[in-house]
Amino acid sequence: MSQSHDTVDIIRTKRDGLVLNDDQIDWVIDAYTRGIVAEEQMSALAMAILLRGMTRAEIARWTAAMIATGERLDFSGLGRPTTDKHSTGGVGDKITLPLAPLVASFGVAVPQLSGRGLGHTGGTLDKLESIPGWRAALSNDEMLAQLTSVGAVICQAGSGLAPADRKLYALRDVTATVESIPLIASSIMSKKIAEGTGALVLDVKVGSGAFMKTLDDARELARTMVDLGADAGVRTVALLTDMSTPLGLTVGNALEVRESVEVLEGGGPRDVVDLTVALAKEMLAGAGREVDTEELHAALADGRAMDVWQKMIQAQGGDSTAPLPTAREHEVIRAEHSGVVTGLDALGVGVAAWRLGAGRARKEDDVQAAAGIEIHAPLGTSVNAGDPILTLHTDTPERFDRARQAAHAAIELTAAAAESVPTTSTTPNAAVSRDIILDTVRP
Ligand code: URA
Repeated sequence: MSQSHDTVDIIRTKRDGLVLNDDQIDWVIDAYTRGIVAEEQMSALAMAILLRGMTRAEIARWTAAMIATGERLDFSGLGRPTTDKHSTGGVGDKITLPLAPLVASFGVAVPQLSGRGLGHTGGTLDKLESIPGWRAALSNDEMLAQLTSVGAVICQAGSGLAPADRKLYALRDVTATVESIPLIASSIMSKKIAEGTGALVLDVKVGSGAFMKTLDDARELARTMVDLGADAGVRTVALLTDMSTPLGLTVGNALEVRESVEVLEGGGPRDVVDLTVALAKEMLAGAGREVDTEELHAALADGRAMDVWQKMIQAQGGDSTAPLPTAREHEVIRAEHSGVVTGLDALGVGVAAWRLGAGRARKEDDVQAAAGIEIHAPLGTSVNAGDPILTLHTDTPERFDRARQAAHAAIELTAAAAESVPTTSTTPNAAVSRDIILDTVRP
């Protein structure tokens, strides 16, 4: 390790908009992880980075320094390529659930380390934990064994991967320094590079329900992460995808598992299927397998992906045939007049689901497996007065009041002349059809 530095000098350098050298970066990350740099000093440095930015070389070094604080997994002995996906987080984003088994059904291994939800965005582990018996924590040996036998694993990231990031992320969360592109990019990529995947596809969400509210910001984040992947030898591609309205027709843990199973049965909402297939195609291409879109749809329709799903759930103690939990209480929000749903805001629906108990306010909180929202009338649906738009689900009815407020505010219903409104189109598997992929960023 490099010689000791004066932390105040490092903060001052960045505060004044200058470039940190490699030695300063290596030292400050290591010293912070070991408790030598104080929390208040790291918060000042994080704020200076948020305000002043970092060069590509600084971000690459910062990422490498965070990886160096922990272990690196190695799947080179697996005998087949590995590929993974990371989403920057959205509302109703259950894509990992059908995606990992779909990709694995083509013989490419998927080591997917996932997280829990915080705030209005859900976490993959919370969703899978609504399956009776399913276990998120696996040792590295168990992960390797499951990748060999099943080809796909979705589990909790162990505490050994990039411990600097765990500490820094918690600090950023309480110092208003999350929204920095260099810090987000290095945080995500340090974990993904340490995980040891050969190829990576990033799903960078854009819109009200995402970190990145504009396409320009999302493009910059995507470019930064794609470059970091390239610098570290991980083949990385980013899709920029719409998060202005929820993905699919369900938001909430068990509800989203149910919808994912529909996709694995060859059904499910169009936007979820389209995004799953597009990401799978890129993940496989990154691992050297060119598979066309029709073949991917066929693997969903003929049960190949479902077979892997069942084995993947069972390998982690889950009962893939057991009924999923359902909420004790429901409340339906109906159209006050006839018209067209011209807005269904992702953030508003996410906040409503969170208030129903689907998400947590603090890391220590529990989530309700069955809480959440079913969407009957997605964006663009014509409805008549009294038709259902959303159903709210919770086990604790005292949550309805605040959830209802957020849900109502999320709905924009534009009146249309009565004769132009066809009868309701709220079929259970309504085709949620929209341009989900906004752009692609390649190395
Ligand atoms: N997700 C992460 O892992 N890190 C960030 O900084 C933001 C989102």
